[in-house]
Amino acid sequence: MNDKKKTGGLAGISAGETALCTVGKEGAGLTYRGYDIYDLAEKGSFEEVAYLLLRGKLPNKKELDSYIEHLKVLRDLPEQLKSVLEMTPKDSHPMDVLRTGVSFLGNIEPEAKEFSDQELVADRLLACLPSMLLYWHRYHQDGKKINVVTDDDSISGHFLHMLHDSPPSELHRKTLDTTLILYAEHEFNASTFTGRVITATLSDMHSAVTGAIGALRGALHGGANEAAMALIEQYNNADEAVEGVLSLLKHKQKIMGFGHRVYTTSDPRNSVNKKMSKILSEETGDKTLYDVSEAIESVMWNEKKLFANADFFAASVYHFMGIPTYLFTPIFVCSRITGWAAHIMEQRANNKLIRPAAEYTGPNLQEWKAINNRL
Ligand code: COA
Repeated sequence: MNDKKKTGGLAGISAGETALCTVGKEGAGLTYRGYDIYDLAEKGSFEEVAYLLLRGKLPNKKELDSYIEHLKVLRDLPEQLKSVLEMTPKDSHPMDVLRTGVSFLGNIEPEAKEFSDQELVADRLLACLPSMLLYWHRYHQDGKKINVVTDDDSISGHFLHMLHDSPPSELHRKTLDTTLILYAEHEFNASTFTGRVITATLSDMHSAVTGAIGALRGALHGGANEAAMALIEQYNNADEAVEGVLSLLKHKQKIMGFGHRVYTTSDPRNSVNKKMSKILSEETGDKTLYDVSEAIESVMWNEKKLFANADFFAASVYHFMGIPTYLFTPIFVCSRITGWAAHIMEQRANNKLIRPAAEYTGPNLQEWKAINNRL
């Protein structure tokens, strides 16, 4: 492999330091501030993980209780932002809605000078992103101006309550909560790195998060969960899926929800999502999507040695909970805001402008000719 191929897309290049997360480190897998993702997903709550990322340590009971109350108070939306959401077209992609919403919030609730309120800005975004998303969704889908202040303690409960107009079952709440934990942080992925690049210029948190949302939107990054859903729902059974995917591979098509830049043999988040997808498929009595997903997973491994990443089974998990496909990637935003904000604060704590060099491939120095003498 030549050097160019090796460094394409900065693969394998260390672009800075972080104390937040390890991805694919031998013997460690995925960890947030030294805690194994499996422990966090099984035993923790998303609010605990948010506190861990944003405050630097796991909260004790008292700290967690007061953090939950603090986030609940920050859920409401300013009237001006509600008007913007009402004006944002019905057929917009909700990722664009969030991008606009965060950007607008930066105008009406700008970060303080010297970023002295950065923790509060991070908490505010964490608390109100689901409100923004569901306010827009329900307004345009059902013509309802919903109340975005519910009594639910958890962000997952709040999200599903606003979506379905009633508090969720504990199984659904816990399942969404677990996916939020799994999506919360992932080292120098494209959107986080975008946020750090913007932050490094001494820009504000709303700008960094707006840019990060733009990066997450693409199908090679967060958009993969929606693309995975579009793939699996095409097939009526496992045999059809196998045949269809083999044909896509023959035509050199990428199968969304598979492969990873850093992991080489598996994505640790996948086994958790897969287990939840199976449980929900049994609950709904609809085995087709799960069987189709499992069949695609086998073909991809047998044919290409490619494994399902976090996005693949997340698709059916969300679908089984009655979440419309176009809200899948925005859910990723509602979770990853924790990782983004933690990286923004970490970048600020030890800042250096991020400005890499480029390998020039253009022409040598050329002679300037007046316009009438040009060919
Ligand atoms: N389906 C089919 N082939 C894939 C593939 C996929 N999902 N992911 C990688 N490959 C193949 C590529 O076609 C390429 O084959 P080639 O060498 O014959 O051209 C090879 O594997 C390397 O892929 P490449 O895209 O160059 O690797 P990368 O490290 O740049 O890409 C991803 C990482 C995640 C962008 C890539 O695996 C991908 O596009 N996956 C689908 C999107 C997705 O699920 N994104 C979410 C990531 S969490």
